[in-house]
Amino acid sequence: MATIWRQPQRGVLVLILLILVHISACAESLQVLHWWRSAGEQKAVAVLNNRMAQENIQWRDGLVPSGSGIGANIVLKSRVLAGNAPEVAQLNGVLISEWADLGLLLEMDSVATSGKWEKLLLPSVWSLVQSHGHLVAAPLGVHRTNTLFFNKKIFSKYDLSAPSTWDEFEQIAKKLQQAGIVPLAQSTEPWQLATLFETILLSESSPAFYQDAFVRKEPAAFYDQRFSRALKRLRTLKKYMMLSAQERTWMEMARELADGNAAMMIMGDWVKGELNAMGLVTDVGFGCTAVPETGNYHLYNIDTLVMLAKDNSLRTTQEKFAQMLISPALQAEYNQVKGSVSVLRNPDLSKMDSCSRASWKLFSRGSSVQVPSLVHRMATDEISKDAIIAEIHRFFMDDQMTIGETQRRLGAIARYLSKTKAGNDAQDINR
Ligand code: GAL
Repeated sequence: MATIWRQPQRGVLVLILLILVHISACAESLQVLHWWRSAGEQKAVAVLNNRMAQENIQWRDGLVPSGSGIGANIVLKSRVLAGNAPEVAQLNGVLISEWADLGLLLEMDSVATSGKWEKLLLPSVWSLVQSHGHLVAAPLGVHRTNTLFFNKKIFSKYDLSAPSTWDEFEQIAKKLQQAGIVPLAQSTEPWQLATLFETILLSESSPAFYQDAFVRKEPAAFYDQRFSRALKRLRTLKKYMMLSAQERTWMEMARELADGNAAMMIMGDWVKGELNAMGLVTDVGFGCTAVPETGNYHLYNIDTLVMLAKDNSLRTTQEKFAQMLISPALQAEYNQVKGSVSVLRNPDLSKMDSCSRASWKLFSRGSSVQVPSLVHRMATDEISKDAIIAEIHRFFMDDQMTIGETQRRLGAIARYLSKTKAGNDAQDINR
């Protein structure tokens, strides 16, 4: 040993140890459980991580890779049950108030008051992050799920312009197919299919009808003609997709669009962050527009982080982190790479690209244009959401499954799940 550890090497080792001891004495650390693993998402994580480091808070990464957070939410639940909760977690939409009701989330009212959150945040964001009048979550950005991306090179080669109606979409899709190009990149993964379906349902109905189905879960909505039209549209679109036997990630589908193997993709605008991370510039390599016939509405999905109520000694660090998240500089930088838009009332619009500017401008018009995403947890609880997604997936995968049968199955689910269950018990499941 003595020959291996010569004097200078021992000195370096001691120095490193001293530095490590110093760092751990100075920096508080927070473990953050999240599901962002794609290139664009990781860039957004790096923005948060770096800002935390500037505040002398260390980010301990708790990545649970899973598109739309299905796996991450399961891991989070089991860690909480095992008494091993992270200090911070990505928890979106309806889940925020459910977890707050269980007393699991840190209430940060002094942060809200001193940071003037009510004045700074867009009203619907402000109401989302509160539960029973207490601040229980910190918002990151607003995504739009009714976004259609298109490959600019292909569109200009075939002299196409972005479709604003389904008729136009079909004309374009047929032209592309004749040219041997796959019109629509789409995975068969259940949440990705359902993300497509929720935008179709909105296009075939209205925000009020969409909410009858997915927020209020009124059984009648699932039997309605507008619902059957949406299922029919989903089946029509199937003709224009490149489907493979195995489920593919949304990042792979974005890659197909970037490489020109597919001309369009319908998905939340985290795809913008991904395309940018691949080196494609917005409005040059790809364009974005609203999904046909949904241009007046913002089907939204808000990313939020919650601070788990654990050891009170971490409260100051957790609160510092929360306050940091809504600073104008961080909001601008983070949302630019993530593909989402600022949660603030007065962001710098000049720094946004055209997709983001359009998204923010529309969303900031308020509740009359805002429609909560089912798949991304803005509309209803996990059980209802997962049950609906499973039926949409079954319908899509099995061409023998009729529209009527899918409607009956969804109507039955709604009857059992909805709060109006008692009033609907008399209805026949098999009508
Ligand atoms: C959404 C989430 C986005 C994005 C996407 C893909 O639910 O809000 O931030 O990560 O899933 O995983």
